[in-house]
Amino acid sequence: MTVADHQLELPTAQERGLPYQHFPTGWFHAGWSAEFERGKAYPLRYFAQDLVAYRGESGALTIFDAYCPHLGAHMGHGGKVCGDNLVCPFHGWEWSPEGRNVHIPYSSRPNRGQRLASWPVRETNEMVFIWHDATGGAPNWEPPTIPEWAAGEFYPLHPHCTGDWRNRPVAPQFLAENLADPAHQKYVHEATDVPEMIEFSAEGPLWHSRQRLVWGGRKGGTWLTPGGEKVGYLDIQGWGLGIALFRFVGVDDTVQIQSIIPVDHKVSDLRMSNFVPRHEPDAVVPTDRALKRIEHLRRQVGNDLVVWEHMRYVTRPPLPPEEAKAYMTLRRWATTFYPDATPPPAVESADALAEGA
Ligand code: FES
Ligand SMILES: [Fe+2]
Repeated sequence: MTVADHQLELPTAQERGLPYQHFPTGWFHAGWSAEFERGKAYPLRYFAQDLVAYRGESGALTIFDAYCPHLGAHMGHGGKVCGDNLVCPFHGWEWSPEGRNVHIPYSSRPNRGQRLASWPVRETNEMVFIWHDATGGAPNWEPPTIPEWAAGEFYPLHPHCTGDWRNRPVAPQFLAENLADPAHQKYVHEATDVPEMIEFSAEGPLWHSRQRLVWGGRKGGTWLTPGGEKVGYLDIQGWGLGIALFRFVGVDDTVQIQSIIPVDHKVSDLRMSNFVPRHEPDAVVPTDRALKRIEHLRRQVGNDLVVWEHMRYVTRPPLPPEEAKAYMTLRRWATTFYPDATPPPAVESADALAEGA
């Protein structure tokens, strides 16, 4: 069975119980900067649409709808880059980064009425983000930047500090809900005990929570905690439903971004970007210990996926009071990203919901 056959048989996220028909609005991680070379065009498929990405000679990255308005060639397959313009492989029509037709090689003038839809793009921290809004709205917030990254304190992300899982049957909502779920840290991620949720808040596109966690508890020394058990904090930011940023306060100075972008209504691409402090200035390859830590983090995403890939979405979960407030606050916040959402009950009634009212 081919991958495509396998995907045909998968249920959509909606068939798995997700009560939203549209993809969420926000910034989503579409790859690492190093993957897009200057002067080359690449096919992408996200949000159930075929796209073409190309990096112009100036270094600017542009993402368009893939199909040429002339006679429908997919410009990610064979498209050429000329300066900062994209040239269609079929008849050589040339498109500016704004999506205007600027040249038809066998005609006296371009077809100025023809436009290609372009997608808002940002590159920060060696990551490429694209903006999706089912209603066509422009970006009204910006993706995260990591202050230490600009100071050159981390190894280059690509290729040692990353992980990716392509075409997996997972929706962004599943990753986002992980942020308000301390209990799964024990059962999925090897935490000694269920962490304590110290604080949580949701404001605009940003979710923030902090969990108190014991690393290496009751184990004496481990490779991550050679001095014995360490009490630390997991500091979590959600930037919309596609980007989760983690800091392991008190354990090490690694910063991690987990990201998810829908390919279509069945599958998504997940990526992990680990910002790991360099052991010496300009070092490119992490130490063995740092690589072991990255592998450990990669394994944790794999553990999440075992659950996410097979679960059904429960719209009215029977949450105990210990987890209801944070979880329902997150779900309410999450609805703000879907144009077709009906918010779940207010946070005040989360206890009642927990009791099955
Ligand atoms: S299809 Fe693109 S130039 Fe003809
Ligand atoms: Fe998790």
